[in-house]
Amino acid sequence: MKGGNSYSFRGRHVSVAVALVAIVLFSTLLWTWETNPIASTLRSAHEWYHIPSEFPAEVPIDSVGTTKPKKAVEKSLTPPTENETKLQVGVEGAAAVDSHPKSPESPFKKKVSPESPFQKKESSESSPRNEACDYAKGKWVADSRRPLYSGFGCKQWLSSMWSCRMTQRPNFSFEGYRWQPKNCDMQEFDRSKFLRKMKDKTIAFIGDSLGRQQFQSLMCMATGGEESPEVQNVGWEYDLVKHRGAIRPDGWAYRFTKTNTTILYYWSASLCDLVPLNITDKHTDVAMHLDRPPAFMRQYLHRFDVLVLNTGHHWNRGKLNANKWIMHVNGTPNEDKKIAEILNAKNLAIYSVVKWLDLQLVSHPRLKAFFRTLSPRHFFNGDWNTGGSCDNTIPLSNGSEVSLEGSSDPVIAGALNSTKIKILDITPLSQLRDEAHMSRYTIRGTLNSSDCLHWCLPGIPDTWNELLVAQI
Ligand SMILES: *[C@@H]1O[C@H](CO)[C@@H](O)[C@H](O)[C@H]1NC(C)=O
Ligand SMILES: *[C@@H]1O[C@H](CO)[C@@H](O)[C@H](O)[C@H]1NC(C)=O
Ligand SMILES: *[C@@H]1O[C@H](CO)[C@@H](O)[C@H](O)[C@H]1NC(C)=O
Ligand SMILES: *[C@@H]1O[C@H](CO)[C@@H](O)[C@H](O)[C@H]1NC(C)=O
Ligand SMILES: *[C@@H]1O[C@H](CO)[C@@H](O)[C@H](O)[C@H]1NC(C)=O
Ligand SMILES: *[C@@H]1O[C@H](CO)[C@@H](O)[C@H](O)[C@H]1NC(C)=O
Ligand SMILES: *[C@@H]1O[C@H](CO)[C@@H](O)[C@H](O)[C@H]1NC(C)=O
Repeated sequence: MKGGNSYSFRGRHVSVAVALVAIVLFSTLLWTWETNPIASTLRSAHEWYHIPSEFPAEVPIDSVGTTKPKKAVEKSLTPPTENETKLQVGVEGAAAVDSHPKSPESPFKKKVSPESPFQKKESSESSPRNEACDYAKGKWVADSRRPLYSGFGCKQWLSSMWSCRMTQRPNFSFEGYRWQPKNCDMQEFDRSKFLRKMKDKTIAFIGDSLGRQQFQSLMCMATGGEESPEVQNVGWEYDLVKHRGAIRPDGWAYRFTKTNTTILYYWSASLCDLVPLNITDKHTDVAMHLDRPPAFMRQYLHRFDVLVLNTGHHWNRGKLNANKWIMHVNGTPNEDKKIAEILNAKNLAIYSVVKWLDLQLVSHPRLKAFFRTLSPRHFFNGDWNTGGSCDNTIPLSNGSEVSLEGSSDPVIAGALNSTKIKILDITPLSQLRDEAHMSRYTIRGTLNSSDCLHWCLPGIPDTWNELLVAQI
C-alpha cells in the first residue's frame, strides 16, 4: 500500500493539502483495504467467478475483494467522524482542482442542485439527528419463516454455484434470520404486492458478480423460487445474448408477463465504459474510461424505473492487469500519476458515474437510482488464494446489531451527497454474517479453497433486496 507521504501535489496546494490527503488516504485505506495487487496471477480458475463475455479472460473476475475482515469488522462498528467525512469530501475537491484545472466537466466536481425536491425530502428523512428511519441500522432477529424461497428450488434463476443446498454444506442455520431496521416500518416482503407495485416497470442491476447475486436473489424472491412459465427471457431486447466466442452473456433480463415487470442484470464490475482497443484482436487491451459510464447504461437508462449500481471488488492492480484494462480519462490514456493510484481511480469512476446519473435524473424523473455499498469479505487466516477460510457456522457470534452513525462508506456517501441517488448501505449488516458465505462448499469442492466473498442463496442478498424494495 502506498503511504500518504509518497503522495504529493504539484503546485499550489502545499503542506495543508498534503496533510489532509495523508489523513484522508489513511482513513480511506482503512475503509477500502485495497489488497495485494500481485495476488492475481489467477490460474486457479474458480468456476463461480463471472467472466465478461466479450473478452473471455482466463481469470476469475471477482476473486479478490478489498476488505481485510478483522479491521473491517471493527471499522464497520465505528462510525466515521464528522471530520473524517468532511476530509473525504475535501480530497475529492482538492483532486479536482489539481488534476483538471481547466475543465468545468471535471468529474470530481459534483453538480449541486439545491432546488431538487427529492433532495429536501431525503435529507430530512436521513438526518441522523432525529430518529429517522435508516435501513442500515438495526439488528438481525431469528425468524422461522425464513428463508423467503427454498434453496432446493429456484433452479431456473439461481446459479448452482451459489446454491448452497446443492453443495455438501451441512449447516444452514444462517438461513433463519431477518433484518429488523431500527425506526423503520418495514413490511414483510410479499411477492404479489411487489409485482403489483412494479407493474410495467423495469428494475436493473449493474455491477459485479455481487450485483449478479442480488439479481438472482430478486428473481427467486419474486417467483417464490417456483418454476414460472409466465416469466420470459427478454435478454435479446437489451442485446444480452451470448455473443460468438463468449463464455456467457453480459447479463440477463426476464419479464413477468402478468404484470409486465422486467428484472435485469448487466455485468460491469468497474462501472466504467470498457472499449476494446482492437476489435479484431481477442487479446487486445481494453480502454477503461474512468470518467464515462458503461455504454449499456447510457443506451438503456431511459427504460429503467429502478437502477441499482455497485462496484468495489475489482479495484486492484491484479484485476486491472488481468483484464488488460488501461485507464483512460477524457478519452485518452491516463498519464496522471495521482489518478493512476487505484483508490483515486476508483473514486474518479464512482464520482463520474454518480455525477452523470444525477444529471440524467433530471430528464428521467421516474427513475429511482441506488448505489449499493461494498459487500464485505470474510477471509480468515489467509486470503482467497492463500488458504483463507470462513468456517464459523454460529450465526451472529460477533453480535447482531448495527448502530453506527453515518455511512459505512465515505466515498460513496460523499459522491451521493446532494444528489438524488440513494445509498443502499448493506456493508455493516452483512459484515455480521461471516457464516453465510459459500465457504469451502463450492461447487468445485476442493476443500482447500473457500469462497468467503460470495454469499449462499437464499441468504444475505435477499436482505439487500428487502431493503431495496422497502425504499421503492
Ligand atoms: C469478531 O470480532 C473480533 C474482535 O473485533 C474479531 O477479531 C473477529 O475476527 C470477529 N469475528 C468474526 C467472525 O467476524
Ligand atoms: C473535528 O475537528 C475540530 C477542529 O478541526 C475539532 O475541534 C473536533 O474535536 C473534531 N471532532 C472530532 C470528532 O474529531
Ligand atoms: C410494459 O411496460 C412498458 C414500460 O415499462 C410499456 O412500454 C409497455 O407498453 C408495456 N407492455 C404492455 C403489454 O403493457
Ligand atoms: C488488430 O488486431 C489484429 C489481429 O491481431 C491485427 O492483425 C491488427 O494489425 C491489429 N490492428 C491494430 C490497429 O493494431
Ligand atoms: C448448525 O450450527 C449451529 C451452530 O454451530 C448448531 O447449533 C446447529 O446444531 C448446527 N446444525 C446442524 C444441522 O448441524
Ligand atoms: C454532504 O454535504 C454537506 C454540505 O453540502 C456536508 O455538511 C456533509 O458533511 C456532507 N456529507 C457527506 C456524507 O459527505
Ligand atoms: C489441502 O490441505 C491439506 C491439509 O490441510 C493438505 O494435506 C493437502 O495437500 C492440500 N491439498 C491441496 C491440493 O493443496
